[in-house]
Amino acid sequence: MASPRRSLFQGLSVLLLAWALVHCQPPLEPQNEEEKEEEPMEETEPEIETFTVPAVVKSEPVVCPGECTCTEGAVDCAGVDLMEFPSELPESTRILSLQNNQIEVVTIEDLTRLQQLETLNLQNNCLTTQGLEDEGFTVLEQLSYLYLANNKLTTAPKHLPPSLVSADFAANLLAKIYPYTFGQKPGLKSVYLHDNKLTDAGLPENMFNGSDSLEVLIMSSNFLRYVPRSLPSSIYRLHLKSNKLEKIPSGVFDSLTQLRELYLQNNLLSNEGMDNETFSQLTSLEYLDLSNNNLSVVPQGLPRSLILLHLERNSIHSIPGDALTACRNLEYLLLHNNQLHSRSIHHAAFQGLKKLHTLHMYNNQLERVPRALPRRAKTLMLLHNTINVIERNDLVFLYSLTELNLSYNRLTSPKLHREAFRKLRLLVTLDLSGNALHFLPLGLPRSLQVLRVKDNQLNSIPEGALQGMTKLRDINLSHNQLRLNSIYQGAWMELSALTTLDLSSNQLSHVPSDLPESLEYLYLQSNHISTVPATAFEGTPNIKGIFLRFNHLLAHSVKESSFKHLTNLQVLDIGHSSHSNPSGASFRQEEEEEEEMEMMEEEVREGFAS
Ligand SMILES: *[C@@H]1O[C@H](CO)[C@@H](O)[C@H](O)[C@H]1NC(C)=O
Ligand SMILES: *[C@@H]1O[C@H](CO)[C@@H](O)[C@H](O)[C@H]1NC(C)=O
Ligand SMILES: *[C@@H]1O[C@H](CO)[C@@H](O)[C@H](O)[C@H]1NC(C)=O
Ligand SMILES: *[C@@H]1O[C@H](CO)[C@@H](O)[C@H](O)[C@H]1NC(C)=O
Ligand SMILES: *[C@@H]1O[C@H](CO)[C@@H](O)[C@H](O)[C@H]1NC(C)=O
Repeated sequence: MASPRRSLFQGLSVLLLAWALVHCQPPLEPQNEEEKEEEPMEETEPEIETFTVPAVVKSEPVVCPGECTCTEGAVDCAGVDLMEFPSELPESTRILSLQNNQIEVVTIEDLTRLQQLETLNLQNNCLTTQGLEDEGFTVLEQLSYLYLANNKLTTAPKHLPPSLVSADFAANLLAKIYPYTFGQKPGLKSVYLHDNKLTDAGLPENMFNGSDSLEVLIMSSNFLRYVPRSLPSSIYRLHLKSNKLEKIPSGVFDSLTQLRELYLQNNLLSNEGMDNETFSQLTSLEYLDLSNNNLSVVPQGLPRSLILLHLERNSIHSIPGDALTACRNLEYLLLHNNQLHSRSIHHAAFQGLKKLHTLHMYNNQLERVPRALPRRAKTLMLLHNTINVIERNDLVFLYSLTELNLSYNRLTSPKLHREAFRKLRLLVTLDLSGNALHFLPLGLPRSLQVLRVKDNQLNSIPEGALQGMTKLRDINLSHNQLRLNSIYQGAWMELSALTTLDLSSNQLSHVPSDLPESLEYLYLQSNHISTVPATAFEGTPNIKGIFLRFNHLLAHSVKESSFKHLTNLQVLDIGHSSHSNPSGASFRQEEEEEEEMEMMEEEVREGFAS
């Protein structure tokens, strides 16, 4: 494309460069050659226009390094396999993107020309401490944003410019930080130091001395044993998770009155490593995560501003009477995976927690539902404990409860009081799976929408157990020992909202005859059903899925006409018969039957498709 036109452009570029150098500005909207060639429209523009309005000329920018893209004040060389810091950058560059390259060295000369630089992104390069000069970045008097994450720095630069607002050193190998790395930066707001090799000895005594605007400090995944002292009182988010913290020195948090979020999970904190005033001055603290530590008791002196408290995955075996009661704003309390026994929870432990709505206590060693649970609780997760009895008044104050999960405990039918649920008038979801119940409990709340009692030893659904449950949508009774004659006649019929009924892995010999009209999914696999009469689904015109796999069905015992009228049917799973016969002849016969049945499935699917 060497044409007179081309040389005209080149001439113009030189002119523009001169203009740019004089004005310390790059030409407006410079574009590189390839892009220009892709725009045939430009060819048709009258040439004269490019002379009269030079500011909008699309021209190859002379000072933009080869692979990079330059727009006004910004140079983007991200991910272009640079091995070296680009030279010849426009002096007017304010934003320089060099991330995702292989740069190893940055010298003072590289930076000295860039007096206007505000944002320098060197993330994901191969920078080492040897490749950076100690005073290097201080020549950048306007530098506000410095991104050095994902490099190979072993010690932080000794000096960073006082103009700094945000510094990201995450995922390096930093073991040392100096007093002026982050000190004396009045505008510094956020510092990211996670995933490094910092120990207590590697931090200067007063790391943020004179940096009194700091709001966010992330030091997760290092090797700190103590919470650093003298943090600025302006901090509102502090991440120290996944360190080796054993101790929170007395008073370290006392000045942090702005702190709202404190992350201390995955450390080695024990009750001996803190005292009853460790957290008490954090008057703005809303979110505290102490999960996965070595606490044996709920700590004392928690601030009343707390909304969410993570204490899960410790070795907590007791909750004293006065540990939580001050936290009047607490909404979420997570105590799962500890070693709580019912008797070591003080009877007044939850007193006054009027906003607490979510309480997780699963995977503990509770023998009973704890007494005096928070009265406004909406969600109560008590699964995987050893609860073996629920007495008449154990749940009596939980008027607001909507979700109760008691699965995988040791409940038996005689020890579950038939009036235990009487006050739970708002309960929507109840899970009693994985217990040792012999019959479906009576007196279940009529507000229930989801009921799971799978994996028990149910051999009976006694008369009236499901009476009046007109909101129940979804019931799972799989893996029990139910037979048709042990379920009272009409049990399902009344459930006028029921869409999903799972009776799989029981001992049913027939499809239940009293299914409600609302039913959409019926799971009957792994029972003892041997026939499906033509009338089986007469009352369920809305059914979408029927699962009959692993029963004793033979081809001639399933009438195609049973399904013909079901216009919504999407899945009919008859699958393989579990009935196996060792004799060769019958076996062949069964294979033929299977083929026949698969064909039937096919037809249903086709019928649905058309
Ligand atoms: C903090 O900075 C002040 C100057 O602003 C200085 O006098 C003091 O020695 C510094 N403290 C530490 C611990 O570095
Ligand atoms: C902490 O305990 C000491 C005595 O052990 C007591 O004097 C002090 O009032 C307690 N502080 C708080 C906040 O409970
Ligand atoms: C956990 O704390 C107990 C004292 O409460 C202590 O004996 C034990 O060594 C601690 N375990 C770890 C891993 O720090
Ligand atoms: C009860 O909790 C277990 C474990 O979190 C969960 O899988 C199950 O779905 C819960 N039950 C209900 C009815 O939500
Ligand atoms: C009922 O519970 C069984 C056993 O956990 C599970 O496999 C099945 O998916 C559940 N049924 C429905 C409809 O969710």
